[in-house]
Amino acid sequence: MKEISTIEFELLKKLLFRISGIDIQENKRYLFTTRLGEYLEEKGYSGFSEFYNRLTSGKEPELQREFVQAMTTHESSFFRDSRPFTLLTKHLLPEIADSSRENARLLRPHLRILSAGCSLGQETYTIAMCVRSWLDTQQDFTEKDITVLGIDISRRVLERARRGTYTRNEIGMAVPVAIFDKLFNKESDGTFTVVEPVRTMVRFQEHNLVEPITALGKFDILFCRNVIIYFPVDLQKKILDHFHRQLNRYGALIMGASETTYNLCDSFEVVSLGNTAYFKPVST
Ligand SMILES: C[S@@+](CC[C@H](N)C(=O)[O-])C[C@H]1O[C@@H](n2cnc3c(N)ncnc32)[C@H](O)[C@@H]1O
Repeated sequence: MKEISTIEFELLKKLLFRISGIDIQENKRYLFTTRLGEYLEEKGYSGFSEFYNRLTSGKEPELQREFVQAMTTHESSFFRDSRPFTLLTKHLLPEIADSSRENARLLRPHLRILSAGCSLGQETYTIAMCVRSWLDTQQDFTEKDITVLGIDISRRVLERARRGTYTRNEIGMAVPVAIFDKLFNKESDGTFTVVEPVRTMVRFQEHNLVEPITALGKFDILFCRNVIIYFPVDLQKKILDHFHRQLNRYGALIMGASETTYNLCDSFEVVSLGNTAYFKPVST
């Protein structure tokens, strides 16, 4: 594949930003060659210009989806940076369940957890696995009282996520042995499938985070890790504002290890617990 010219880079960069919010800076120009170049070669395009022209002709709407899919990183694994999951099981679920019980009064409490930018579903299923182990200690909550929703812009990763089948490499090395043995079934081709009782706790839905998440409803816990770091500051602020609106007042936002709301949004305060932290909505 040829190198991308400056004009092609500027045009494709602007288009990618408009569709998905992802802002590729000049020093990352090579990402167009490495990520998109491979796709164009595979599909027989003569170069970036032909792709751009077809992309903007309006005749092949699916191409925009393919473009974003090719340009996004889907790197993930089960129990990735395990600290937020310890925080979830030991601290957030017990505390937020109490608030939910109080809030529900005579109704049955229900917990809703969002995994935003869920990629192949590793984070979403990890959340469900933690919830299952916590449920073993609960009298009044069952899996019917918990919703775990994974959302992503990419339809292709969501199709994979729904299947719940992974290579050993996609699972990663952070899964505790007891959980690995209990919650994955080994397939004849050497891949591993998340067991049915965990799969039924999880749903996946296509959603572009550039748009508000209002239609998805309110959440008690919102994971958004290693996603908005790729967006420009203005968009990060907008997304955090959407999150704030959809989080219950006693809820929690969990971001990636190198992400923060600090300097971006006054509507969250940092709560540090041991070697990890989460963000709590404050009333505005
Ligand atoms: C690096 S993965 C992070 C996966 C997981 N959260 C984790 O930390 O392991 C980033 C994911 O964000 C998704 N993504 C990128 N832009 C998005 C957007 N505008 N709306 C929704 N998802 C988006 C990508 O498709 C990709 O699957």
